[in-house]
Amino acid sequence: MPRVTFFREGIGADAAPGENLRELAQRAGVPIYRSFHVLLNCKGRGKCGSCRVELSDPGAVEPCERTGPEHRHLDRGFSDAATRLACQVTVCADISVLTQEVAGRRVETKGFIPRGF
Ligand code: FES
Repeated sequence: MPRVTFFREGIGADAAPGENLRELAQRAGVPIYRSFHVLLNCKGRGKCGSCRVELSDPGAVEPCERTGPEHRHLDRGFSDAATRLACQVTVCADISVLTQEVAGRRVETKGFIPRGF
């Protein structure tokens, strides 16, 4: 069972086989949406692009290539393979995940990936 660590929140959770990263975050109580997207999001259909996360190991999720919705929402601003949409990937190996920053709540993330969000 792959272990997912949400770096910013300091929360860990075990992923069920084939479990979607967005659903896992919700089950673990990790907020992946920011601002008005908490209420206004596409609920995992790949249409809003608001579930963006950064992965410590892009090879630990499936599919390993970006999906069509990810190309649409991420390619212009995030060319690195580590940035994905949580609703588009399933976890297949242990991984750390960096969620988007919450305004007014800074957490030191340099230990995760130097670029940060
Ligand atoms: S929840 Fe809307 S794109 Fe992931």
